[in-house]
Amino acid sequence: MSTAISPTAYNYKVVRQFAIMTVVWGILGMGLGVFIASQLVWPELNFGLPWTTFGRLRPLHTNLVIFAFGGCALFATSYYVVQRTCQTRLISDSLAAFTFWGWQAVIVGAIVTLPLGYTTTKEYAELEWPLAILLAIVWVTYGLVFFGTIVKRKTKHIYVGNWFYGAFIVVTAMLHIVNHASLPVSLFKSYSAYSGATDAMIQWWYGHNAVGFFLTTGFLGMMYYFVPKQAERPIYSYRLSIVHFWALITLYIWAGPHHLHYTALPDWAQSLGMAMSIILLAPSWGGMINGMMTLSGAWHKLRTDPILRFLVVSLAFYGMSTFEGPMMAIKTVNSLSHYTDWTIGHVHAGALGWVAMISIGALYHMIPKVFGRQQMHSIGLINTHFWLATIGTVLYIASMWVNGITQGLMWRAINDDGTLTYSFVEALQASHPGFIVRALGGAFFAAGMLFMAYNVFRTVRASNPADADAAAQISVVGAH
Ligand code: HEM
Ligand code: HEM
Repeated sequence: MSTAISPTAYNYKVVRQFAIMTVVWGILGMGLGVFIASQLVWPELNFGLPWTTFGRLRPLHTNLVIFAFGGCALFATSYYVVQRTCQTRLISDSLAAFTFWGWQAVIVGAIVTLPLGYTTTKEYAELEWPLAILLAIVWVTYGLVFFGTIVKRKTKHIYVGNWFYGAFIVVTAMLHIVNHASLPVSLFKSYSAYSGATDAMIQWWYGHNAVGFFLTTGFLGMMYYFVPKQAERPIYSYRLSIVHFWALITLYIWAGPHHLHYTALPDWAQSLGMAMSIILLAPSWGGMINGMMTLSGAWHKLRTDPILRFLVVSLAFYGMSTFEGPMMAIKTVNSLSHYTDWTIGHVHAGALGWVAMISIGALYHMIPKVFGRQQMHSIGLINTHFWLATIGTVLYIASMWVNGITQGLMWRAINDDGTLTYSFVEALQASHPGFIVRALGGAFFAAGMLFMAYNVFRTVRASNPADADAAAQISVVGAH
């Protein structure tokens, strides 16, 4: 074994950059979530200005939490995982740097244009065409860096985490490019290339698979690397992980129509979406069980390791939201849940409980490693963060269940003479207490992120990234 500087040492710089920005965007995106949740409690917070209305800030919240926070977490961890599991450096430092700066530019573009009211009006695909094109270029470059690194790998096989990351990258490119096909009429306005029910179907094929591949498959890649690493146990079943992969990607792509029940979409397409969604329960739970069972023989570590707690609780929320989703996809259930806060609760069970928690756990594991430290500055603060995040998520979801079912039942209640029992405003008044609890839960979760920022700041300040780079060189050289 030699400790000579190797040209194949890992590129940790880009990992560090994306990791730090994950925390920054997390605070901004979730802080904005708390703000819009407060607007629903106190409408005066709209300030009577167009730029600060709920309608404009809501899409900014979704863009910041999904693409800025979630996206940076996925970039950071995928670049880290692909290098370590392939025992090789990213194929190009300059292309990797381009993905970092390009991605930040897209996010800044969103922060400027969405409050100004520039939007395609398609949910999760709001960014107008110049930004959408930049995003596509950055994404294709990301694909080149990721798959190029896999091609030059020093290991024989491709670790399963990379399969999940790879599918997430390929499918996101496909969805984004197809759904954004449009005709620009000015610098800030374009019209979709599709119309009517076709447009709706393509939009929800995109929207659902944004959930399936961006918010799920990518984070499963994270799960397959960081859960075994933190538990110091091999993955429970490698065979199950392969079945999980193929079943998940085969089924997800068909489930989009469950967003369009009882619409102008042909009935057969709605029923197909419903059936595929129900079947989706199986691979989802297969993956969750594979992650959970990895802790066999290591459960006692949960008592002392808050990072592992983040990872395991995220899997529990993943299991919960992928049980709830198939139920909500059943047409009769959807006729109650659709348009209500139940959907919002389901979204955040996945978003806070699964996506945010697994990212936070992965970052706490990875940040010391890429900054040349043994561990995070304070384990106690991680523990505090864990409880704030868990309590916050539970408050958020529970209040939205109560609100959602209340709204659904009040909207459908009719008197003997066929008139509606309740007006819309009465249902809104009944939702008010739930809105307060949700804002409180969100504030808990966002406060946890501030503890994280402080902990990361102290860790980074005392760090020596050069040590991490040198350690990476040693481990790569040592591996041969
Ligand atoms: C502090 C944490 C958060 C708070 C307080 C919060 C709050 C909110 C609020 C108030 C809405 C609008 C609900 C409505 O229209 O009635 C919303 C929507 C949404 N949020 Fe969050 N959020 C938080 C974190 C997150 C995170 C981390 C993600 C994703 C990773 C996320 C994803 C979404 C999505 C996808 C929607 C749109 C849901 C839909 O259209 O059905 N949120 N959020
Ligand atoms: C087996 C897995 C899942 C199924 C079958 C499923 C199914 C559903 C259904 C039926 C809806 C309501 C559609 C409507 O009435 O408009 C929905 C909404 C949603 N789900 Fe899931 N879900 C699953 C997992 C997840 C996970 C893990 C996440 C997040 C990480 C998630 C995020 C969302 C979002 C963001 C929406 C709101 C979309 C919108 O209207 O803006 N889902 N899901």
